[in-house]
Amino acid sequence: MERKIKPIPSLKGDLSLPPDKSISQRAAIFSLLHEGRSEVKNYSMAEDPLSTLACVEHLGAKVQKKDDVLIIEGTGRTDLNNQISELDCGNSGTCMRLLSGVVVGAGLSIKLTGDSSLSSRSMKRIMTPMEMMGAKILAANNQYAPLHISRSGELNAIEYKLPVASAQVKSCVLLAGLFGKNETKVIETTPSRDHTERLLNLNADVSGDHRIISSSANDAIPNQSYSIPADFSSAAFWLVGASIQRGSEIRLKQTGLNPTRTGLMSVLKDMGANIEIENESNNSAEPTGDIIVRSSDLIGTRITKELIPNCIDELPILSIAMAYADGTSIIEGAEELRHKETDRIMAISQLLKSINADFEELQDGLIIHGKPDHTFESATFESFHDHRIAMAAAILSLKGRKASIIKDAECAAISYPSFWEHLDTLSN
Ligand code: S3P
Repeated sequence: MERKIKPIPSLKGDLSLPPDKSISQRAAIFSLLHEGRSEVKNYSMAEDPLSTLACVEHLGAKVQKKDDVLIIEGTGRTDLNNQISELDCGNSGTCMRLLSGVVVGAGLSIKLTGDSSLSSRSMKRIMTPMEMMGAKILAANNQYAPLHISRSGELNAIEYKLPVASAQVKSCVLLAGLFGKNETKVIETTPSRDHTERLLNLNADVSGDHRIISSSANDAIPNQSYSIPADFSSAAFWLVGASIQRGSEIRLKQTGLNPTRTGLMSVLKDMGANIEIENESNNSAEPTGDIIVRSSDLIGTRITKELIPNCIDELPILSIAMAYADGTSIIEGAEELRHKETDRIMAISQLLKSINADFEELQDGLIIHGKPDHTFESATFESFHDHRIAMAAAILSLKGRKASIIKDAECAAISYPSFWEHLDTLSN
């Protein structure tokens, strides 16, 4: 479906954003592994978390919905449904990679499938540690879904140094580790989002410049009775939209502020953004607060490898901020972006090309020569069926002189089903 977006001079209003996608998916999986009842408040109804919830039900969890609470009766680690042969992970890398850990740990024999985007993303990064732990995995071209996973021998505990900063790989290994007699250890040199270790209360030691997180069958799996905070990754679109549209002011209510997720906010502040936090609270699964953003003059910046994991999903929209900042910005060390729902370096380049922006594409990032007054007549933006590209294109459309078109705009619902409605709300 195409969407026509008219330029809007300023964005104003208060929003309650959708619940966090990463935390929702973990809440579902960890509730399955907890033996007994969890009451998860404010679970995300976006497509990826719904795919994960359906898989968790197939694996044996009993799920009931009461108002905005999901009551999940988990099977625990020893009573997962071993009768199912297939799980559909939809578009979700988190679903496929985290559930692979559960399937290997529990010794189930299951085929994991995904849509065409997910089936074109390499699963080698989880296959390697899962095979070290004793799994047998058959994959298309030895790396792509469908993944036929089984394990006939013992589960081996491993010590695994992450070759890429990836919370999905970290979580996959730790989840498999939860089924082992001995401790599995994951060593990360660049910190990635830490929802798994927080929500499972796993032991994490800092040693020099790295963190070692461990898991084993001796770790009790806590119930997952908490409220899911609003998604910082959804907030990102409005943080940039309000910053670059003069006269804007938006309040994003009770949004997740986990420091391993809020890298975009630090980068935008360094660029001169006007962002304040009020009403900080610890009543949800993780810290939250109201974020207030007002328009401001941005300047160019440089972001390097260490910063990337904490803003990996926000780099498409950050690139739009950079195109409207004064001066040159550089993103480097972001090769990982090429392995997301689409090759996001290519997809961002296409967005910038459509408005005739001055930029260079690098193998691992972008150099963007920003101009605060840059404008364009109108554009037709490809979303490549990637939710974050479609929403970044929507913010970019606000800058045209006439209405622009976004192709396959419905894909925003992967993480943010109410995005288009919220855009309307902020335009009035
Ligand atoms: C996620 C981790 C990140 C992120 C993805 C969600 C998660 O991926 O890009 O959208 O929920 O663990 P990687 O861990 O592969 O970097």
